[in-house]
Amino acid sequence: MSTTTTTAYDYKVVRQFAIMTVVWGIVGMGLGVFIASQLVWPQLNFDLPWISFGRLRPLHTNAVIFAFGGCALFATSYYTVQRTCQTALFAPRLAAATFWGWQLVIVLAAVSLPLGYTSSKEYAELEWPIDLLITAVWVGYAVVFFGTLMKRKTKHIYVGNWFYGAFILTVAVLHIVNNLEVPVSLTKSYSLYSGATDAMIQWWYGHNAVGFFLTAGFLGMMYYFVPKQANRPVYSYRLSIVHFWALITLYIWAGPHHLHYTALPDWAQSLGMVMSLVLLAPSWGGMINGMMTLSGAWHKLRDDPILRFLVVSLAFYGMSTFEGPMMAIKTVNALSHYTDWTIGHVHAGALGWVAMISFGALYHMIPKLWGRPQMYSMGLVNAHFWLATIGTVLYIASMWVSGITQGLMWRAINSDGTLTYSFVEALQASHPGFIVRMVGGAIFLIGVLLMAYNTWRTVRSAQPAEIAAAAQMA
Ligand code: HEM
Ligand code: HEM
Repeated sequence: MSTTTTTAYDYKVVRQFAIMTVVWGIVGMGLGVFIASQLVWPQLNFDLPWISFGRLRPLHTNAVIFAFGGCALFATSYYTVQRTCQTALFAPRLAAATFWGWQLVIVLAAVSLPLGYTSSKEYAELEWPIDLLITAVWVGYAVVFFGTLMKRKTKHIYVGNWFYGAFILTVAVLHIVNNLEVPVSLTKSYSLYSGATDAMIQWWYGHNAVGFFLTAGFLGMMYYFVPKQANRPVYSYRLSIVHFWALITLYIWAGPHHLHYTALPDWAQSLGMVMSLVLLAPSWGGMINGMMTLSGAWHKLRDDPILRFLVVSLAFYGMSTFEGPMMAIKTVNALSHYTDWTIGHVHAGALGWVAMISFGALYHMIPKLWGRPQMYSMGLVNAHFWLATIGTVLYIASMWVSGITQGLMWRAINSDGTLTYSFVEALQASHPGFIVRMVGGAIFLIGVLLMAYNTWRTVRSAQPAEIAAAAQMA
């Protein structure tokens, strides 16, 4: 029930985004398992261009990052900003429009990418008409979010909202600058940039999509849901402010670590490397702040699987933000680049951090949105936790083995200077890793299916009166 009165929160749009997070999670991760299977059995390409690996891979990345991750961010930010500002959403109709607009973007992506329409920029593949729609939805999102902050009843702006706000503003700038392009038809455009400039703009975008879409937004989630679920105040409010400013100041400079040993000027590569190493400090500052919020309440982990999701996600965040700076060192990157090590790093962040913290936040939020005391089955939440953890570990470990094997085999040289191994030999050596990754991904996906069932049972059992009462302000 959506309402603009001051006595009730606008939960309808939050509920819609929460449900679609689960739906797009199944679609995006289902696609992930499918493309992982194509790498095991290339016959699964069926010689059909629409479902070939090359077209479904960007569909997977768009579906998991922007559909699953995006809906999780919309849902939790609309929830958090209302709760922490003690006020309903500003412009609730516009908020409803952001929901339908975002779903339209996702459907257009799901149609255009398999058909082969792409601007060919990674994580920004969608063609210009969809880019314009994204811009319109995003401006609406910013108006709703910042408008709600403006009409807050509380004195302070809670730190979670700082992170959400930085994510919304920065993603707007990244999206517009990287997608400046000249349309030549409805379905084709050319970037305004060329050569090394194009590469630098693209990876300034790509790395900050990681930094702001996959990190800052989810840190906003962390700062609200970890203290709430642990029922403890944030460990250090002062550290959270230092964390915020340090993180957003440093992330912006690290993009060139994606372009080591390329035509990008050497000084820019080295700058990217150094800034990536420095980035370890604020990343771990945030992780420690989240983890230490549990000090004095560690025993809660024993019987609260939701809290376990949240804390283990922080552990994976810490792990991937240690690994990232190491991979940014040029000599390490000489081994890791182009290999599955990068893919393992990506999914340590994506599965371990982004997906796990989203699951924890959803399990906290869903009963509250539908006025239920808790999820239909906490046993299923616990089972999901273990499936997600085991799936992530299998994914990452298999990619480390396969990535380092690839890196070492590619650089092995005989005494006469010829290559020791052909590319196909390195591919054959990677095959066992591909199988383990596929199994790990499938286990992870089964967990998401359990979550969908649990959500459905929880939502179905809610009475209209309970749903209405849930939105009342205390
Ligand atoms: C069931 C879970 C998942 C499976 C099985 C899976 C599988 C895959 C596979 C097979 C690839 C292509 C790797 C290659 O080209 O060698 C890939 C790429 C990628 N996936 Fe996933 N994925 C899953 C979940 C996710 C999630 C939840 C996210 C983000 C939130 C994500 C983000 C990405 C990204 C960013 C890439 C591109 C990596 C790069 O270009 O370096 N994936 N995934
Ligand atoms: C301090 C934090 C981090 C640093 C310094 C860092 C550094 C790096 C480096 C050096 C690469 C390899 C670039 C290459 O060889 O092509 C990389 C790739 C990547 N990282 Fe991170 N990383 C960090 C955290 C994260 C987190 C938390 C996530 C996910 C939530 C993430 C997602 C990715 C993705 C998606 C790529 C692949 C990009 C592509 O080539 O398509 N990173 N990162």
